[in-house]
Amino acid sequence: MERVGTVAAVRRAVSEWRAAGQTVAFVPTMGNLHDGHVALLRLARKKAKRVVSSTFVNPMQFGPNEDFNHYPRTPSRDSELLTAAGCDLLFEPDAKEIYPLGHLNATRIDVPGLTDILCGAFRPGHFAGVASVVARLFNIVQPNMAIFGEKDFQQLAVIRRMVTDLQIPVQVIGAPTVRASDGLALSSRNQYLLPEERELAPRLYQQLVRVAELLKSGENSREDIARHEAESRAALKADGFNVEYFSVRSAETLHAPSLSTEQMVILVAARIGKARLIDNVQVELA
Ligand code: PAF
Repeated sequence: MERVGTVAAVRRAVSEWRAAGQTVAFVPTMGNLHDGHVALLRLARKKAKRVVSSTFVNPMQFGPNEDFNHYPRTPSRDSELLTAAGCDLLFEPDAKEIYPLGHLNATRIDVPGLTDILCGAFRPGHFAGVASVVARLFNIVQPNMAIFGEKDFQQLAVIRRMVTDLQIPVQVIGAPTVRASDGLALSSRNQYLLPEERELAPRLYQQLVRVAELLKSGENSREDIARHEAESRAALKADGFNVEYFSVRSAETLHAPSLSTEQMVILVAARIGKARLIDNVQVELA
């Protein structure tokens, strides 16, 4: 695997591959890689001849009181994992390479209707930061396709919409969430959990599965949904979580499902100790 830090070096490598008719899959990350990322790389490896990844902790997507400075940075281990996963090129830019004039007044991409709900309501500016860096990375790497985890369901929706709206010629592919054996979705932020919090953390997934089963069993009227959401919020609160939202939405729009919605997604964000955890489960109503 080649490691590069400049836009020019990435463009050079990728344009040679594409000129030779090779397809390129891109897996953008913020580093601190775990098995969830490895699954994204494996999928990239299957789908394309060449795999590019990036590890850039994007300052634009962190709020003023968030964990940008403490976000775990593990470049040597990331490079080993990426090499083992068959990555061809790793882009490790510094902030100046991505935001030559600084990120504070840099051009931003807003995706109305999607960036201010759910996580966006609790992390103002977060999704504009994500969309803005992903657009830059797509423009720099110019891949045929890009792979993102479904664990960040809202992020995936924002990126899909941005790509459609801006007519960016990149195929966006979602990959299933990777879970620990007790159901907890893998995340870099799981490291913030103390042992007793780590034991409680799978309850988020348990509540998602509980509601998914109820919806599938036919308890999916507007009143049923409101009741399930309230019960899950109360159960998680009793377990010691500070629940930001627990909500059943249309998987397509991320807004409240209508009676004819067939594809639903149940999403949760909750804090426990120093960790803010998110997860979701998709439900298909027959
Ligand atoms: O999901 C992430 O790791 C980040 O939000 C992303 C997509 C790499 C943008 O910084």
